[in-house]
This record gives sequence, structure tokens and C-alpha cells, in this order.
Amino acid sequence: MPQKAAARDRALIDQEHRALGKLIDALQAAINRGESEEDIEQRKAALLSRLEEHLDLEKRIMIDAGFPLIFAHLEAHDSFRDQIKLILSSIHTAVINKGNISRLLKKTHEHHVRYYDDILTFYLVDKYSLEAVDDGLGI
Ligand SMILES: [Fe+2]
Ligand SMILES: [Fe+2]
Repeated sequence: MPQKAAARDRALIDQEHRALGKLIDALQAAINRGESEEDIEQRKAALLSRLEEHLDLEKRIMIDAGFPLIFAHLEAHDSFRDQIKLILSSIHTAVINKGNISRLLKKTHEHHVRYYDDILTFYLVDKYSLEAVDDGLGI
């Protein structure tokens, strides 16, 4: 893939990470406000569909860039998705304190970024001589 496309894709990954963080914050705020179950369900669905788009984006980038660790990363996406779903499904139970939902979602997201997405972005930076920038988590 051309360097320009790689730079654009690299930036897209970070943008998406930030967007997912915002959706998580919005969900937590709605939970804290005591919004209706319908509202919470819509926010959960919006988060999951954005997550799915993000995982598809990374998959497309890995294919385009010939990323050698694609299969391990795709497997990690499956467990990442499952864990997010598990946390979301616990909102209406007493398993997790409702005030901690966003913390758990963000920790799970951060874990995936640290263990998998960082390898992909470092690969893109090295292969296409891109500028090193942060990973979108703001940490
Ligand atoms: Fe990601
Ligand atoms: Fe990923």
C-alpha cells in the first residue's frame, strides 16, 4: 500500500480508538443519569456496531499492509469482542458496580491496544516510515 494510504490508515486507527472511548463515556454517563433501559440498550448497540466497524478496519489494514501477525490479531479481536459483550451484558445485573462499567470497558480496550494494536501500528510506522504518534488512548 502507498505510504500516504498507510499514514491515513494509521491515523484512522487512533481516531477510532478515541471514538470508542467517547461512546464508552457516553454510555457511562447515561447509566449514571439513570436513563431508560431502551436508551442504554441503544447505546450498547451503538458501541458494539462501532467496535465491529473498528475491527473490520484493522483487518482491512492488516491485509493491505501484509501484516505477518494478522491471524493472532484476529483471534485476539474475537476474545476482545467477547469480553466487551460480557461487560455490557452485566449492566443490568448486580455483578459489577454500575459506576465501574466504563472503567472495565476502557481497561479491556487498553489491554487489546497495548498487546495487539501497538504491534500493528509500530509495524506500520516502521514499514512505511511514518511519524510516531500516540495510540489514541491519551495515556
Ligand atoms: Fe483497535
Ligand atoms: Fe486490534
